[in-house]
Amino acid sequence: MRLTILGGGGFRVPLVYGALLGDTHEQRVDELVLHDVDERRLGVIDHVLRQMAAGHPGAPRVSATTVLDEALDGTDFVFSAIRVGGLEGRTCDERVALDLGVLGQETTGPGGLAYGLRTLPVALDIARRVARLAPEAWFINFTNPAGMITQAMQTVLGDRVMGICDSPLGLGRRAAHALGLHLDATRFGYSGLNHLGWLQTLVADGRDHLPELLARPDLLLTTEEGRLFGPEWLQTIGAIPNEYLYYYYFTREAIAGIRGSAETRGEYLLRSQADFYRAVGDAPERAHDLWVQTRRARDETYMAEARSEGEERDAADVAGGGYEGVALALMAAIARNERASMLLNVRNGSAVPGLAADAVVEVPCVVDATGPQPLSAVPLTGHPLGLVQQVKAVETLTIRAAQEGSERLALEALALHPLVDSVTTARLLLTGYRERIPALDAVFR
Ligand code: G6P
Ligand code: MN
Repeated sequence: MRLTILGGGGFRVPLVYGALLGDTHEQRVDELVLHDVDERRLGVIDHVLRQMAAGHPGAPRVSATTVLDEALDGTDFVFSAIRVGGLEGRTCDERVALDLGVLGQETTGPGGLAYGLRTLPVALDIARRVARLAPEAWFINFTNPAGMITQAMQTVLGDRVMGICDSPLGLGRRAAHALGLHLDATRFGYSGLNHLGWLQTLVADGRDHLPELLARPDLLLTTEEGRLFGPEWLQTIGAIPNEYLYYYYFTREAIAGIRGSAETRGEYLLRSQADFYRAVGDAPERAHDLWVQTRRARDETYMAEARSEGEERDAADVAGGGYEGVALALMAAIARNERASMLLNVRNGSAVPGLAADAVVEVPCVVDATGPQPLSAVPLTGHPLGLVQQVKAVETLTIRAAQEGSERLALEALALHPLVDSVTTARLLLTGYRERIPALDAVFR
């Protein structure tokens, strides 16, 4: 079984490789193809993987290429985790917005639209190549903004494209853990869009345990979400939101937190990742050690703007990881026809009432050899439904803007985003992004 990773020189690729090394099933990935546009980064990650493989006789064979068609030709699974415009682009996504006083974040708010706009043409090109070179392949998309990118790619590849994220599973895991429930025996009534969902029920032994959790501030405070939103707010809305909802419920604090720190997340990563790739270039024999060290620091500082100074992340969250586990479980369920349930970004159909059938939503699914099937989700009502509908409208406008190269549609999308508070600001955002990010500007030329 062959797996192709797009963004194969990316920093998180060793996590996927580690998960592959742990897979002993006879029907497993035995061939890994890394693709990246940057040869140097590919070389560094290749060093890390070789050091990880030492002592594993059954380790998958690894090859690396900068030729996309070569990487895709005849493959069985594709994971995509690319970053168009690199981390420099991410810092622009953030800074252009922050300079205008609105949220500057890579996936949420105007930054996510800027990231989406420049990524969509690349993602659609990849989808067309996959349709031609690997029409039977399953495509697992981690590329952010994952919901929007998955939805656009589905116009070419249909349900063979699925989007994944670690955050809903992380939330479910924390909630279940707080109550001492077994993860495998718990069903998560979680639904919404990527980075915009709510846990509304937590079913084990045939009943919903979420009210129990919501009634216990002490238990809520053992979870990242309890500390982020405060038990009282969770009790008020009667659900546990995805951590990314912090940017909606506490917009001012989030903006102030990011503006008040010496560097944005993108700036921190630009610096620390550059250090890592350079250091491995200088000392390739230390590739894996350097990777472990850099990864620990990255995980510990994740979403630091949402925590008070000195407050550390849960050791379990830092160690828990996640997206590589979701990706591997998804591949196993499809390849081995082992029915599994998981939270995925898939075509809505009728799972979430109030959204179009072809809208991509993040919901519980059952997966087997035929792919994922969304389960009918706990319906969204009230403010979550309103918010999801508005953000989905904005995502759909952004996809059309990229497909048609339309400034007018891009402006409409930015202006209608709930975190952009004026049409004038939206105009300034679009101008700023076009000036700072050539790949984004190219969408309109
Ligand atoms: C979580 C999200 C991902 C996102 C990542 C950012 O894992 O689910 O979608 O890419 O955080 O982490 P970073 O270390 O790049 O800030
Ligand atoms: Mn995510």
